[in-house]
Amino acid sequence: SSLTAQFLLLLSALRSGSVCKKESIFHFNFRTQRNPEFHLVDKNMSWSDAQKYCRENFLDLATVTNHGENQQVQEKAQKEMAWIGLHRDPNIYWSDGSKHSFTNWASGMNPFGGLSVICAALDGSGRWKMLSCEGPLPFVCYMAFKNIHTP
Ligand SMILES: *[C@@H]1O[C@H](CO)[C@@H](O)[C@H](O)[C@H]1NC(C)=O
Repeated sequence: SSLTAQFLLLLSALRSGSVCKKESIFHFNFRTQRNPEFHLVDKNMSWSDAQKYCRENFLDLATVTNHGENQQVQEKAQKEMAWIGLHRDPNIYWSDGSKHSFTNWASGMNPFGGLSVICAALDGSGRWKMLSCEGPLPFVCYMAFKNIHTP
């Protein structure tokens, strides 16, 4: 709908800082209100370049909060390794600020061990691996939609 389109424009404008940030007026909870749509970007980039690309062209790198979303991201990535928005530096956080609760680590993967700065990628089977952030790898971005009820 055109309301959704307007909302998306506003979101990307806020994200790029091109409009005055009125957080008190325009405030919502990504985790409960977002309805993400994932997009594979088939370009090999480092995690931080991928993050920049997603923020400029979509909303952010993919945040995965449940199995359903993980499946959607895997369907986009197919058998390719692909960056998702999870990062450890040194705490683990999602690029978009979502709370880190759902996890899907590959067996034997210890997200707290090893390198000091690491980034997460989906492996070919949908499990998460921590890698050196240089990659380069393709990546999955997301766009968020908010359900706006029109009268
Ligand atoms: C990305 O790199 C991989 C591994 O080097 C290569 O097989 C693939 O073709 C590259 N993809 C693109 C879009 O350049």
